[in-house]
Amino acid sequence: MMNSTSRPISSSYAETTNVVMPNDTNTQGNLFGGRLLQWLDISCAISAHRHCKQVVVTVAVNHVGFDRPIKLGDFVTIHSHVSRAFGSSMEVWSDVSVEDQQTGEKIPCNSAIYTFVAVDHEGRPVQVPDAVPGNATEQERYNGALRRRQLRLILSGKMKPEEATELKALFQPAS
Ligand SMILES: CC(C)(COP(=O)(O)OP(=O)(O)OC[C@H]1O[C@@H](n2cnc3c(N)ncnc32)[C@H](O)[C@@H]1OP(=O)(O)O)[C@@H](O)C(=O)NCCC(=O)NCCS
Repeated sequence: MMNSTSRPISSSYAETTNVVMPNDTNTQGNLFGGRLLQWLDISCAISAHRHCKQVVVTVAVNHVGFDRPIKLGDFVTIHSHVSRAFGSSMEVWSDVSVEDQQTGEKIPCNSAIYTFVAVDHEGRPVQVPDAVPGNATEQERYNGALRRRQLRLILSGKMKPEEATELKALFQPAS
């Protein structure tokens, strides 16, 4: 439900398209992973900023899968959106596709999850509005975001495993 400190997830939507040029490729002639990470970082930052209207910084790259090679000359489109906002941090989800240049069909390639933090002019974290899901995909990603947050905070040493109640519930169903 929306309130004065919440925004619909749809207001964070960002779409970017890049063409894979020769200096974006590895020795196999495929897009190299580091360039895709850069494009993802920019797209996710736009989404995070659209959500909170503050300066944002990348605090973690949580998941990137490279499910299929992306070729020289491909049109690479990234759709990003905030999947959930917490205190000052936001989980941002990206879906990557390439375009069949004969038919225009969009072929899914991979997805990625980044975490951003909103900061003030001195780089200190500031509160962000809640993100409110509006469709089934947004709701599913929103629902899973809390346990992903707990997992990444455990992995970065910022949370004790015993505090990760949402995550533990996955393995200990209520009796
Ligand atoms: C992001 C930054 C401001 C956070 O500062 P901090 O002192 O860790 O602040 P806090 O401990 O209060 O954490 C702030 C938020 O970041 C989250 N966070 C911190 N480390 C995290 C990590 N490794 N993974 C996910 N979230 C993390 C915290 O959970 C908290 O979120 P919440 O407010 O929603 O609960 C600081 O780490 C920073 O400036 N990092 C560099 C960012 C940067 O330069 N990025 C560009 C890449 S080079």
